[in-house]
Amino acid sequence: MGPKRKGQPEQQGETSRASPAKQRRANNTKKAETEAETETSASSSSSSSKPRDSKLYHGFETYPPSRVFRLIEPGPVLLVTTGSLADSTHNVMTIGFHMVMQHESPPLIGICLGPWDASFAALKKNRECVLAVPDVAMAEVVVDIGNCSADEEDEPSGKWQRFSLEACPAAKVKAPLVGGSDVIANIECVVEDTKMVSKYSMWVLKPVKAWLNPDKKPGEGGRMFHHRGDGTFVIDGEVLDLKDRMVKWREYQD
Ligand SMILES: Cc1cc2nc3c(=O)[nH]c(=O)nc-3n(C[C@H](O)[C@H](O)[C@H](O)COP(=O)(O)O)c2cc1C
Repeated sequence: MGPKRKGQPEQQGETSRASPAKQRRANNTKKAETEAETETSASSSSSSSKPRDSKLYHGFETYPPSRVFRLIEPGPVLLVTTGSLADSTHNVMTIGFHMVMQHESPPLIGICLGPWDASFAALKKNRECVLAVPDVAMAEVVVDIGNCSADEEDEPSGKWQRFSLEACPAAKVKAPLVGGSDVIANIECVVEDTKMVSKYSMWVLKPVKAWLNPDKKPGEGGRMFHHRGDGTFVIDGEVLDLKDRMVKWREYQD
């Protein structure tokens, strides 16, 4: 669980009278959920190749950006897509260094993506990307993606062909979603802050749209995997449910 921030309640009391801060958070969550729905319905009337199915898009349903911390806080290995699908400059790489920085207002995620990666230049240029959460079924290909560079390919998008990855147009960013039944989720992000890039290669991202595979929800068909830092990985397994003890953080539970 992240550090406590200004405005968070000291103690969760009876729910009949919510604190102003809690009420505000509840309203924000509701707003995000409504926005997610509105965004999808708006897309559905568009004639572009952007997302248009109000229920499922390439097998994904919309997921509130204010809840993406649940996808990132477990620390899964992620794919990062950059560039532009429209002009075939899209790239994809693997990361293990990332963190949730803020739940909401706005949600923020930090990723470490270094200047030695071809993806760095694309992120710097377009200031947007997609974070895809792969299921362990993709572990080998995800590691292979992280052991080669677009700089070594004939085309910027060479890795997509090489690894037979499905690139789907995103709703709000130029970089594509990673399609396929073994992808747990996709989070469309824009760069919020670059202050720590030169010193730490740390990009602060703001999720603006998110998609969840309903057949691969974490713990309900989907299993994330986590890098131990040496080429070995641990896979989601047993769930330890301590919700009852999370007395100060009830607003983050269903
Ligand atoms: C398991 C794993 C984790 C990785 N984590 C990171 C990371 O957190 N940050 C980073 O910059 N590169 C990381 N890499 C390396 C990049 O994925 C690798 O440099 C990639 O090939 C860059 O592709 P590009 O040059 O096409 O952008 C990781 C690789 C693997 C296999």
